[in-house]
Amino acid sequence: MKPPVLELSGVSKTYGDVAALADAGLVVRRGEMLAIVGPSGAGKSTLLNIIGTLDRPTSGTVRIVGHSVADLSDRRLSALRAATVGFVFQSFHLAAGVPALDAVADGLLYGGRPLRERRRLARHTLRRVGLGHRLYHEPHQLSGGEKQRVAIARAVIGDPPLLLADEPTGALDSRSGAVVMELLHELHRAGTTVVVITHDRDIAASLPREVRIKDGRIEHDSTVPERADA
Ligand SMILES: Nc1ncnc2c1ncn2[C@@H]1O[C@H](COP(=O)(O)OP(=O)(O)OP(=O)(O)O)[C@@H](O)[C@H]1O
Ligand SMILES: [Mg+2]
Repeated sequence: MKPPVLELSGVSKTYGDVAALADAGLVVRRGEMLAIVGPSGAGKSTLLNIIGTLDRPTSGTVRIVGHSVADLSDRRLSALRAATVGFVFQSFHLAAGVPALDAVADGLLYGGRPLRERRRLARHTLRRVGLGHRLYHEPHQLSGGEKQRVAIARAVIGDPPLLLADEPTGALDSRSGAVVMELLHELHRAGTTVVVITHDRDIAASLPREVRIKDGRIEHDSTVPERADA
């Protein structure tokens, strides 16, 4: 049985009187790939932000690669996050005017490695996502699908065990979306644990596990917890 990358127990998140997440429990083991689905406002991004330690829960416990988030200072949590989690967003989050090579090299800023080495790894990672011919293109010179592949390269350059993607195909046409999904599958096959938030039923159905969330509650998980421990 593979060790958990992620363990949430009794996790709630409230914003004023809004319960964005209520009593969520989730165990994700190393090497899994799963979809988180649910209607708009259900709490998917809230859940992803808590999984990714960008946000702390109002109550409940979150463990990531064995560390309890509540036991860590903000500084230690940032360091753990940098080493453990890669993020991909619907809107790419690429800075204007920054060439792909440097955007991807920035994914290693935390490691304290020299720029030369970061650029060498960035070149390698851009080739891995099929963009070896676009190293010096800035975001406005790239297609949507290419921008998302740059963002994925930036997320995985440090080889994090966990990749979190919030609607990674939401801004893409279906063909570019399929290329991005194939890339996520490829990273999964190479050993990365991948969590994908999606509105797209076909995408959700194509992943090995589906977690459905509604009104802040996990209402269905295709992996029955007891079976996950078998
Ligand atoms: N910072 C905040 N302050 C107040 N309410 C918030 C905040 N962030 C989220 N919410 C509320 O919490 C609920 C869950 O939001 P969340 O962004 O997690 O939804 P979502 O499932 O990702 O929706 P979408 O599919 O539209 O992205 C929503 O009702 C939202 O209005
Ligand atoms: Mg969202």
